[in-house]
Amino acid sequence: MKVLAFAASLRKESYNHKLIEVAVEIARAKGENVEFANFHEFTMPLYDGDLNEEVGLPAGAVALQRRIERADAMLIATPEYNYSISGVLKNAIDWVSRARPMPWRGKSIFLMSASPSPMGGIRGLWQTRVPLEGCGALVFPDMFALAHAHAAFTHQGQLADGTVRETLERQLTGFLLMAEALVSVCGKAATGVANKRRVDITEALENETTIQPPPS
Ligand SMILES: Cc1cc2nc3c(=O)[nH]c(=O)nc-3n(C[C@H](O)[C@H](O)[C@H](O)COP(=O)(O)O)c2cc1C
Repeated sequence: MKVLAFAASLRKESYNHKLIEVAVEIARAKGENVEFANFHEFTMPLYDGDLNEEVGLPAGAVALQRRIERADAMLIATPEYNYSISGVLKNAIDWVSRARPMPWRGKSIFLMSASPSPMGGIRGLWQTRVPLEGCGALVFPDMFALAHAHAAFTHQGQLADGTVRETLERQLTGFLLMAEALVSVCGKAATGVANKRRVDITEALENETTIQPPPS
């Protein structure tokens, strides 16, 4: 299974970047083929319908689209901004959602957040689910929120609290098992009977053109 991982923060000392590094290490130790992306690769302007119509997706959005298309599953660590989804991630979701076929559709996603606050960014993750699920992604029910992130990492970048790491490892294991099971019926590589089920599942999903009309 191909897994794409990134932190949706542009900050050099990003806690979400540190968190995604721990998650990537855990997933790789479980034998997953993880592609790590830096969000700076996906720099793009604010969504502009005229720009979309005149020139299509900007380079940063196309870069993200291609990465998503290559992946079966994704790990995303993202900050909570003002109790909600981060602007840069929402903007990226919006741009990529204009590509066809819809790149997010059928992708299993595990959401994480890290914040210095006691809530760890969990409220932002609930908001982050909405556009992703609206675009047809399969967001795992469990989400991991790292509270007090400024004090949560060792100098080596590991999670200092063993119990917290165990929770992350348990949730990630559950996610990878579910994503693996889904990829055999929803993934691009599905063949034979599995491929028929993939088509049935795709047809059963809400018709994306009714909620997001394609570019004219
Ligand atoms: C505009 C803005 C809004 C924020 N809102 C919240 C918030 O609602 N909840 C929260 O836990 N942290 C909030 N924070 C603090 C972020 O969690 C903190 O800056 C965090 O370090 C960002 O993630 P990063 O380290 O990966 O860049 C906010 C930060 C900024 C800049």
